[in-house]
Order: sequence, then C-alpha cells, then structure tokens
Amino acid sequence: MMPVNKDTEKKAWWKEAVIYQIYPRSFADSNGDGIGDLNGIRRHLDYLEKLGVDVLWISPVYKSPNDDNGYDISDYQDIMTEFGTMEDFDCLLSEAHEHHLKIVMDLVVNHTSDEHAWFVESRKSKDNPHRDFYIWKDPKKAEDGSDALLPPNNWGSCFSGSAWQFDKATGMYYLHCFSKKQPDLNWDNPKVRDSVFGMMDWWCKKGIDGFRMDVISMISKDPSFPDGKVMDGLYGDITPYVCNGPHVHEYLKEMNTRVLSRYDIMTVGETAGVTVDEAKKYASSDGSELNMVFQFEHVGAVPGKVGKWTDEKPSLPVLRKILNKWQTELEGKAWNSLYFGNHDQPRSVSRFGNDSPAFRVISAKMLATCLHMMKGTPYIFEGDELGMTNIHFDSLEDFRDIESINAYHEYTDKGLATPEEMMRYLNELSRDNARTPMQWTDGKNAGFSDGTPWSRVNPNYKEINAEVELADPDSVFFYYQKLIRLRHTTPVIVYGIFRPLLEDSNEIYAYERTLDGDTLTCLCNFTDKEVACDLCSKDLGNELISNYKEHVPGALQAYETRVFLKKN
Ligand code: GLC
Ligand code: CA
Repeated sequence: MMPVNKDTEKKAWWKEAVIYQIYPRSFADSNGDGIGDLNGIRRHLDYLEKLGVDVLWISPVYKSPNDDNGYDISDYQDIMTEFGTMEDFDCLLSEAHEHHLKIVMDLVVNHTSDEHAWFVESRKSKDNPHRDFYIWKDPKKAEDGSDALLPPNNWGSCFSGSAWQFDKATGMYYLHCFSKKQPDLNWDNPKVRDSVFGMMDWWCKKGIDGFRMDVISMISKDPSFPDGKVMDGLYGDITPYVCNGPHVHEYLKEMNTRVLSRYDIMTVGETAGVTVDEAKKYASSDGSELNMVFQFEHVGAVPGKVGKWTDEKPSLPVLRKILNKWQTELEGKAWNSLYFGNHDQPRSVSRFGNDSPAFRVISAKMLATCLHMMKGTPYIFEGDELGMTNIHFDSLEDFRDIESINAYHEYTDKGLATPEEMMRYLNELSRDNARTPMQWTDGKNAGFSDGTPWSRVNPNYKEINAEVELADPDSVFFYYQKLIRLRHTTPVIVYGIFRPLLEDSNEIYAYERTLDGDTLTCLCNFTDKEVACDLCSKDLGNELISNYKEHVPGALQAYETRVFLKKN
C-alpha cells in the first residue's frame, strides 16, 4: 500500500480553491468604448459563481498609460481611466464577496511606469530624493576612444532591445527589464520597500483577498551587473543576474512579516527563472514567504528558434517529465500553482490539446482534468472554461502586444527570422491569442462590446461562446463546473500525495494521488488515436469523471480522460 500523508499537509483555504484569472481589457465592456472594464466584470459575477470558482485574480486595473496593458503602473492607488473608478472597484469587491468570490490583485512592483510620480521625480536630477528609487548607471566608455555613451552592460530587455535607456536630463542610463516605459525599482533602497509595503497594506485594509506578484523573482539584481551570455548574436541574457537574486528571499520575508502575515490572504509569485530549489524557498510550507509559485518550465519546454519563439509543440514525454518533477519535488515542502495558460501564453487547447473542430471539446476537457487532478492550486484563464482557441492573424497590424510586435521587428530587421517565420511563431505563441475578447454570445462582437473591440474577436465565436455552452449540459463549461465541485468535495484531490504512473508511455499521461488509504487515479490520452491501456482494465474504483460516455475496454480513445477513486 502507498504511504499516506495523514495530517502532514497543512490545510489552507487557498489549497482547496480554484482561481479564475480575468484579463479586464478583454472580459466585458460595459460602456461601448471597446475596452473591457470593472463594471463589465460586475455583470458577470453570476456566471462566475455558477462556474463555481473561489477566487478571481484580476490582471492590473491601476492607473496606467498602457504601454504593456496595465503592467506599467503610474499610480498604485488609483484605477485606470478606461476601467472605471475606485468606486466601481469597491462595488466589484463587495459584490464579488456577496457571490462568494474572493479578489486577488495583480501586484506589479518589480517596475513602475515611467509616468509614475516616483520616476518623474527620479529622472529630474541626481540628487532628487527619489533618485535611488530606480537603478541608474553611468554610460560605459567606448573601447575605440570615441565619445559614444554606451549602455552600462550588454543586457537585453524581455521585450527586445537593450535593457538600458539613456536619459538626457542627467546623462545616465536606467534599467528596464521590460519596456523602456517600465523602469525597474531599486529594491535595495529601504524607502522603496517601505513605499511598496505601505501601498500593499492599503489594499489589504480595503479587504482584498490576496496578491499575484508579477515577476517577483526579479526584484533583486546582481550588484556587479556583469555582461550576460549573448543570445541570438544580439543582447546578453539577463536571467542569471536578475532572477532569484541575492536578496530576493530576504525582501520577501520582510514583506511577509510587515504585511502578508497580518492578513488572511493568499499570495502567488510569478517567478520567472525559478528552479525547484528556489521554489522551496519562495513557497515554503513554513509560510515565511509566499503561498505558491508559478514555474515556467512546462510553458518553455520547447527551446525557441529565436528568443522564446517557435512553432513546434512540446511532446508528451517532455511535458510529463517537467510536470512530474514539479509534482514530486515540491511534495510536502512547497505548494504548486497549476496552469496551462494565462494572459502571457497562447490558448491552452491550441497549444497542449487539439483545437480542430473534431477534438476541441474533448481535448479541452482532457487538459482540464489533467491539470485539476494534480497537486496544487488550479488556475483557469478566462475562456478556457469554454475551450476558447488561438486566433489567426494574417497581418502584423492585428497584433496589439508590445512583446510580439517588438520581437517581430527585432528578429526580421536583423535577418534572424523571415517575416513568414515570425508570423508563424506569433500565431502560435503570441500573448494576443489569450487576449482576444471573451466570447459571451453569438451576437455582435461575441457580446463583448457594443463598440469596436480593442483587439479582434475570434471569428469562431458563433460556435464557441458562453450562451451556447450554458444551454448544453455536455459543454466544456459544465465539465469545468464538475471538476471544481469534485475538488471541493474530495480531499484526496487537494491533499493527496502525487505518484507518477506509466512513465514510459508516449501517449498517456497518468498519475495517482493517495490520502488516508484512498487512491485517485487520473488517466489522460494526449493523442488523437485510440491507445491500449492495460491499467484501465484494473479495478481502480469508481469513475469520478470522464470526457466520454462510452468506454473501450483496455484502451483510451482519442483525448479520452478517466478519473477513478478507490476508497480505503
Ligand atoms: C509579467 C506579466 C506580463 C508583463 C510582465 C511585465 O510577466 O505577466 O504580462 O508583461 O510581467 O510586467
Ligand atoms: Ca469599456
């Protein structure tokens, strides 16, 4: 018999919860300007309550000039004009609570907007009181003796180009790991930490239920700022010098003591470049830093042809190896976040499943099952519960995302990829795939907006939309509802120990979970063919859920999933 972990896993509400991510710009537009907004979210709380999720993580809604759709914040204590007002936010918070939905805010504190008052001050002069809120460096002298003012080192930004921007006013460079309108804060300055913690406290007092912390693994930089390994013959890789830096755990422990531990909130770190060992610190079960982390290995499983860009899909063996590693190595030590998609990734069914009409619904259900039965807290990205797919754009003009547009220009200008290749990569991986408007109905603009949507609506909205799915008991929506209910009623799904099964299979992903003598078995066929499965013929207990009504003995049909529970 498998070892059981009676009482070893501490209970917590955020372990039992299912999180639903809202990208407000794309969710619902209440006033016809083509941009989703807070009052749009308020209109759909019944829908979210019906789905059964516990928590809404809302991508940034703060004041922002929108260079990176709100991830460039100019005022942390105000609301983006397009999204509404603080009063709308307060209504959303209290109405969400009435609907038994908690609200998790996106906390973007690795950087601010260059329009934030701190940066406006900081760039004014070298002795400005806010100067050290950001990371300023002198230009490097040119080796050829010319008076060119070179960037301090070769670091490349995550959004293409140099990570340094020259600022004429003081003749120095500032660091921006993302766009040049997103200067990095200097966390080594205690006044920065005081200001950020004070702001977080203000939101906690308002009654919000947690924070999703944007690129929080990047807040502490290597103080020697060395050149990085040159990538694609362009810029140096910043990852080793900005991810998991020397003081990151110290700063998060300070945040935990001064703010987080004083409230009953949940926290999840978006931890670019995180390893299993680092995750054990960020999300340690001792509660000293954050509750859980987002790791990136499974969404980066296929090496890019240029940068992160490729049109190749990950194979099941590669995917399984990564997922199993995170499942088994964090066991009892730290808590996983489970996700196949979010606002930075393409649509999960298009990437990991099969979005052709024959298999879209069945593979979307399979993927959801695979995710929700693993150990950790599952995250649903808006529209995944409908099986929404990638869109296809023929022209660069249709893309809205700064990362995609910059990458296209950088790699085609330098001759590293042809325009055709780049378009293929963008269509496969661009963040715009996730950001097309939510498909509510088969009416105008998919019921998202009466005006002209800021991003094109996926033309498949006539078939794929919430209205159609709510009228069909076999829809992806109701399948998710069932998965969520199972989680809420079956402790082994939340707390059971994970053990991989069938590790040599090229087609089937399988694992079991055990708790107090109960065994849950999850089987998923990741291919479009029927495959033999001896394990399926064993006595695995009662079937809890499956995406097929009829089964084939000793086999799993195309994208078939089955979950069994054998009681002690
Ligand atoms: C995170 C966000 C992404 C944003 C970036 C910079 O990765 O998820 O959307 O562009 O940080 O803030
Ligand atoms: Ca609007």
